[in-house]
Amino acid sequence: MELLIKHIRTLVLMPPGPIGGRHMREVPIVQDAAVLIREGRIAWTGPADQAPQAQAALSAEDGCVIPGLIDPHTHIPFAGNRANEFVRRLAGESYLSIMQKGGGIRVTAEAVRKATLEQLVEENLPRLRRMLSYGTTTLECKSGYGLLPEHELKQLRAIRRLAELQPIELIPTYLAAHALPEEFEGRADEFIEMMSNPELLQTIRQENLALFCDVFCDRGAFSVEQARRVLNRAAAAGLRPRLHADQLARIGASVLAGEIGAVSADHLEQIDDAGLEALKRAGTVAVVLPGTSFFLGIAHCPVRRLLDAGLSVALATDFNPGSCMIESLPLVMNIACCQLRMLPLEVLTACTANAAAALSLHDRLGAIAPGFQADLVVLDCPDLDEWFYTPGRPRVRYVLKRGQVVYRSQ
Ligand code: NIG
Ligand code: FE
Repeated sequence: MELLIKHIRTLVLMPPGPIGGRHMREVPIVQDAAVLIREGRIAWTGPADQAPQAQAALSAEDGCVIPGLIDPHTHIPFAGNRANEFVRRLAGESYLSIMQKGGGIRVTAEAVRKATLEQLVEENLPRLRRMLSYGTTTLECKSGYGLLPEHELKQLRAIRRLAELQPIELIPTYLAAHALPEEFEGRADEFIEMMSNPELLQTIRQENLALFCDVFCDRGAFSVEQARRVLNRAAAAGLRPRLHADQLARIGASVLAGEIGAVSADHLEQIDDAGLEALKRAGTVAVVLPGTSFFLGIAHCPVRRLLDAGLSVALATDFNPGSCMIESLPLVMNIACCQLRMLPLEVLTACTANAAAALSLHDRLGAIAPGFQADLVVLDCPDLDEWFYTPGRPRVRYVLKRGQVVYRSQ
């Protein structure tokens, strides 16, 4: 099956990731272009007047064509709602103090433990449908709200079911240590043992329930040593490491990410030079989550320092009921422009080529290049500058997944 996308005003020829530092804004652009898709993959790109014939055509109506957006850090699927914590923070409490008073992750864990797999699916499917309409075509999904093996497995199986029910490709991560459940108070090491026991890790790997393992390594969560133990065991079972690092305090989590060769280190609001160095040396992708800082009202990650250091930076929503209820990757991209001072091309590279690298999918996703999967978004504006200039305005005209139109605006 062939499809020619015609009448493209601006085609962003995103190269495969990872793309480091200043190269993130050196992406080639073609004006008045076309894209030929064959069997779900990109077969040809170039000027419209040289476009080959095809069996079918789709007009971009003078819009801009970009790779499908990739969100490499979310906490879907979850249950319940913590709007009250959001308002408590507006009134002056901090994320950490709410957590210490029994709020936070434990509240969502209680709701997730009570929910059946079917309820998790039902509650999260509409979220994915909305994300698709914002242009997200691939999404990382974490467990981490079960806080007991059976409930973590239930979350991971819900991710698998959600992947079958809608077009966004879901990449599952086992978030082995997110918070200490109440019944393990004072027994963190026992909890860690339980969540990283080889039998459980084997079940996850053999049933292909996750590709990655994650740990929340921070003050108020798990220590560097605990994270190292879990992630080493997971790696031995075939789950590649990634971690929540340097969000609330500087405890050495990004140094650990570098040491163990994590695929990504995420958050990084508190990163220091040692952390930057470690990530650079290991080729770990830095996943920055500006929606979370915006939502919590805390300091942003110093992303320009990361870019100056030559790191490959990705952006993600961190969508979760506690620290960021933002489903829209374009909104996070707008925050990255306006508050982190990232340029439109840097932001797009972060949400496509580098987001693919953060999920180790950069051999087939995140680029507009021959052979790459034809996951594309057609915007109703002539170029990227116009898109980012109009925050909050829905701009997605079509979304294609593997060459098929899976969303069109009314
Ligand atoms: O990425 N930092 C840890 N985990 C989430 C928050 C989860 C929650 O509050 O429910 C995050 O921000
Ligand atoms: Fe997170």
